[in-house]
Amino acid sequence: MASLNKQAELLNQVIQGTNSAVFDLLTEKGKAIFFPHQGILGQTAEAKGKKLNATIGMAYENDGSIMALPAMSSKIKLEKDSVFPYASSFGNPKLRNEWQNRILKNNPSIKEKNLSLPVITNAVTHALSVIGYLFADADTEIIIPEPAWDNYELIFTITYGAKISSFPLFKNGSFNGEGLKEKLNRSPSKKILLLNFPNNPTGYTPTEEEANQIVKIIGDFGKSNNLLVICDDAYFGLVYEKGIIRESIFSKLSAVSANVLAVKADGVTKEDYAWGLRVGFITFGIKDGEKLYSALADKAAGAVRATISNASNLSQSLILQALSAEEYELEKKEKKVILQKRYEAVKKILGKNQQYKKYFQALPYNSGYFMCLKLSGSLQAEQIRKHLLEKYDTGLIVVDNFLRVAFSSLPEEKLENLFSNIYRACEDINV
Ligand SMILES: Cc1ncc(COP(=O)(O)O)c(C=O)c1O
Repeated sequence: MASLNKQAELLNQVIQGTNSAVFDLLTEKGKAIFFPHQGILGQTAEAKGKKLNATIGMAYENDGSIMALPAMSSKIKLEKDSVFPYASSFGNPKLRNEWQNRILKNNPSIKEKNLSLPVITNAVTHALSVIGYLFADADTEIIIPEPAWDNYELIFTITYGAKISSFPLFKNGSFNGEGLKEKLNRSPSKKILLLNFPNNPTGYTPTEEEANQIVKIIGDFGKSNNLLVICDDAYFGLVYEKGIIRESIFSKLSAVSANVLAVKADGVTKEDYAWGLRVGFITFGIKDGEKLYSALADKAAGAVRATISNASNLSQSLILQALSAEEYELEKKEKKVILQKRYEAVKKILGKNQQYKKYFQALPYNSGYFMCLKLSGSLQAEQIRKHLLEKYDTGLIVVDNFLRVAFSSLPEEKLENLFSNIYRACEDINV
């Protein structure tokens, strides 16, 4: 490959010198990328505070305040300075710190030394895409339990050429540890494992015991192999049952082996009910990784700069003030209770309508926004979905041959009707 930029070389030296397993996980693009501390950004930083500063590509009023159109600024209560100027490609430093503190608070078994400062992205999809930029290329096999979120294909396969290799998420109603082990050990190619709990589309989160088993399998694999594990924690915190993991599986994976780099992709999108604000985070964790984090963050921020330059300052400032607001935790709890009640209503409906089993049964679910129905016999999910739209005014999503129900999006009292429509649609088609 063409010779690398000096700044990229310096980052690579740090990474390779600290942990060659992590260096080997990087793609060619990942090796080449760097954060341009020198150049425009460096020169701008050097000019900060000068009487005449004509460095930055933003516009200021004659009095030195940031320029903004009142048609916009009059609608926003936040200070103009925290809305209209560019944010850093790494993200607002206060928000990065605040999010790191929240990760530590919500995942108390993470050791601080096993956690980088998060880099801010344009929500979770972009976090995954930046991870793909750094670690996924045509040589890479991405192991993803199925069913899975369909956008992984666009992010990793279509964008970076990586090959998705799947195994069934469940075996006999539990997490399929055997399938995971078999997949990891099958071929000697470069591998990434992607785990998404609470899961889209099934709404599944592993039990404590299953999580320990997953970590053990990965730890054993890591004794003689390198691995990147992506924890897609988009639905973090939305768990509704006892005995399932409350912390992200990232907690344990960030300490499991110096050959296993764990990377957490999360954001405010789902867990803070802020889908359109587009703020997400990439956080690295690895055993004995303290010296790696700054170089990895530089690479991630370089990829952010190369793709979107930086995430919305307005969104970041809005979130930052919310996270430190007194009412935030309580409001968040109240919304979770609403989702939990819908989850419990679904369980009750399926429990009391045993006749539904003739046509469909739930895949294991205990968390998140969704649950999936497995259809009996030769029933085709797509045919039922269409029929539900046409005859029952009801919309669902088909994933593989499952019907995904977003109970997050319907009031509790409408759920009974939803499932009875699904039943009637199956009956119509089955005759
Ligand atoms: C599992 C999973 N990961 C990531 C995302 C993307 O989230 P964002 O809207 O923050 O990009 C979604 C959205 O549906 C999702 O279901």
